[in-house]
Amino acid sequence: MSKSALTFVAITALLTVLAANPAPAGAASTPEQKCLARKLAATGKLVSTDLGCRSKAAGKGLTPDAVCLAKAEEKFNKAWGKAESKPGCPADPAQKGDVLDEVEAFEQALIVTLPDLNISSADTQRGGVLYDAWWKVNGAPTPSGTFPLYTTTFGTQTGSTTWRCKECHGWDYKGKDGAYASGSHYTGVQGLWNQVAGLTNREIFNAIKNPAPGGHDFSAQISDADILNLVRFLREGLLDMDVSINPTTKAAAGDATNGSALFAAGGGGACALCHGDDGKAIDFGGGEYVGTIANDNPWEGLHKIRWGQPGEPMPSAVSNGLSLDEQTDILTHAQTLPTS
Ligand code: HEC
Ligand code: HEC
Repeated sequence: MSKSALTFVAITALLTVLAANPAPAGAASTPEQKCLARKLAATGKLVSTDLGCRSKAAGKGLTPDAVCLAKAEEKFNKAWGKAESKPGCPADPAQKGDVLDEVEAFEQALIVTLPDLNISSADTQRGGVLYDAWWKVNGAPTPSGTFPLYTTTFGTQTGSTTWRCKECHGWDYKGKDGAYASGSHYTGVQGLWNQVAGLTNREIFNAIKNPAPGGHDFSAQISDADILNLVRFLREGLLDMDVSINPTTKAAAGDATNGSALFAAGGGGACALCHGDDGKAIDFGGGEYVGTIANDNPWEGLHKIRWGQPGEPMPSAVSNGLSLDEQTDILTHAQTLPTS
């Protein structure tokens, strides 16, 4: 849709929400008409202030400032309240809610219509392993010390692990609302699995690079090309892991028999080639094997089955064309393997 057509649709929708009262030509305006005029003026101001916040952020390569957007809404609330304090303009909270929804939808549509970052040639699989431990993928030095952003969270970990995306956003991409809702990996940080849908590629890119206080500021460690790979992974590689893993019992919901066949040979799985039939050929350290990870942390297991192990030749089941059902089957079989 062209921008002017979009604007037209949005304004028509707003007018419908506000239920216009046309004035007879030449007549003095009625309180109802003044009410409509005031509400439209308040709405117009909201849209222009919001777009001002967004343009300021876009010009600096940042995500829009939440304080700026909140102020715009506060001003709107005041102007709307003032309109409804006059005669002929009864309070109508439902209508106000509808207007705010229309404005939000209009702004989102507008932002998507404007040129966004192109991620069609970005590498989703590389993004998936970067999410895990980016320095093992891009050859950057292992980060020393604790990630400054991590110190602003409730997390109690220290050192290089605090720089991994998964440490705050979770193996299940649900952050504080998933497996990291409690325990030694709790940080209180939001998940990403259904949040990124509300962001443009540019906003996701800027959030990762963002040098502002409280931002990630990965600009020195992760190249723009790899940030694009992360954007594509976040946009297309995430899923609701509850579909594959019972969040309470941790049991994988697949078919272990089919998983066993995929684990043993071919079909893009072939885990046994490196990990052995019992998953114990490689010790990940301190007596941890495929069966240990699959049972203790099935979300990590599924992420690794899907994308591989950073800096190792372990294949990605997604790249090899295995379906989510097949990936879940492999995890289900892996849960039957020895844990020690
Ligand atoms: C130290 C914890 C931490 C780590 C590690 C971390 N993040 Fe975040 N991330 C946050 C916090 C906190 C927010 C929420 C910021 C906010 O509320 O605006 C966030 C938000 C985001 C958002 C959403 C931005 C928005 O506008 O909603 C994206 C995308 C994101 N992170 C991607 C990543 C990626 C990719 C990595 C790894 C390269 C990563 N994060 C590593 C803490 C972290
Ligand atoms: C080409 C060899 C190879 C294949 C095939 C392979 N892996 Fe791996 N895998 C590795 C290597 C190497 C590691 C890293 C070991 C380490 O860090 O000590 C690894 C790591 C892992 C880990 C995570 C260990 C950790 O704690 O970080 C899991 C889980 C795992 N593999 C499961 C699987 C499953 C399931 C399959 C089949 C879908 C599979 N692997 C296929 C080589 C392979």
